[in-house]
Amino acid sequence: MNYLNVLKYFKPRTNRQSLNNEEKASSPGVRLYSTEVRTCTLIPGDGIGPEISAAVQKIFKAANVPIEWESVDVTPVKQPDGTFGIPQTAIDSVNRNKVGLKGPLMTPVGKGHRSLNLALRKEFSLYANVRPCRSLEGYKTLYDNVDVITIRENTEGEYSGIEHEIVDGVVQSIKLITEEASRRVAEFAFKYTKENNRRKLTAVHKANIMRMSDGLFLRCCREMAEKYPDVKFEEKYLDTVCLNMVQDPSLYDVLVMPNLYGDILSDMCAGLVGGLGLTPSGNIGINGALFESVHGTAPDIAGQDKANPTALLLSAVMMLKYMGLNDHAQKIEHACYDTIKEAKYLTGDLGGKAKCSEFTDAICGKLS
Ligand code: IPM
Ligand code: MG
Repeated sequence: MNYLNVLKYFKPRTNRQSLNNEEKASSPGVRLYSTEVRTCTLIPGDGIGPEISAAVQKIFKAANVPIEWESVDVTPVKQPDGTFGIPQTAIDSVNRNKVGLKGPLMTPVGKGHRSLNLALRKEFSLYANVRPCRSLEGYKTLYDNVDVITIRENTEGEYSGIEHEIVDGVVQSIKLITEEASRRVAEFAFKYTKENNRRKLTAVHKANIMRMSDGLFLRCCREMAEKYPDVKFEEKYLDTVCLNMVQDPSLYDVLVMPNLYGDILSDMCAGLVGGLGLTPSGNIGINGALFESVHGTAPDIAGQDKANPTALLLSAVMMLKYMGLNDHAQKIEHACYDTIKEAKYLTGDLGGKAKCSEFTDAICGKLS
């Protein structure tokens, strides 16, 4: 299936709008619907994952979202070849449902199994990672009115995991950049910028240093710019973007970049609006999408009803928009924003004393 078929559905649709037959025929991987109940995969995750997932489920119920959750465990299992991998039931669930929500997963540092977060992105070819960072009214940070979106190549670059020791004390890590992956994420970014009526798209790179790899990425962006003459396009060095971003975030709008740059820059942008606990994320692929909170598992507060479910909730709202359930998405988004703005039930990370369940109930109270 051509990934462009997915891109055209990224534009939010209203709840009752259904596809015409021609659109349905051209989108075998994407089952959009109007009112029927749809099953979504839920990966609750580790640490605080289960409690923030339960909070999202409760809020979705209060908002009468026509979704049934299929909860799966992704704890790696030993495969016949002796390696550890994602359990088949989880893979089947995502492949069947095409849409999923995922809580934080523990990543071992420098040892053990490879990051499951990455394995999931790879397994389902979730090639574009979209992270909108918007200032929340009522939650004061150093900057007001931040509204930037990072679009990160999600499958290769420094994340390819190709590393080896050449001789004792010398290791090499390969940054893999392909034309195919660069072009598809560039196309996604241009289409996203256009369809969401955004101001401009900035390609972020270091092609002055990594002339071949970033050079290829940049070339793909430039070529795509020619196909989208109505999208304002510019190219900037990564270090310049970091400098400008902390001085005046309004200089940027939508940004597209290779994998590692996107990892770092998206955290920086999240920091401008209050951190990872407030920032949603969507991994979009050819044949489906997985939305996730990007913060860690916070083992120190796990199981204590103290976690902030906002990032996972806003990721779930992104999921609803992706599925065309726009009315539900907006209702929940506003209830969440209003609860934060009122500041009566804020969790500890936002300077409040409320429990996760109290914050959740306050949101639910605005939905009924
Ligand atoms: C992210 C995270 C992941 C990454 C980790 C958890 C593997 O930081 O989604 O940004 O590095 O991509
Ligand atoms: Mg990161």
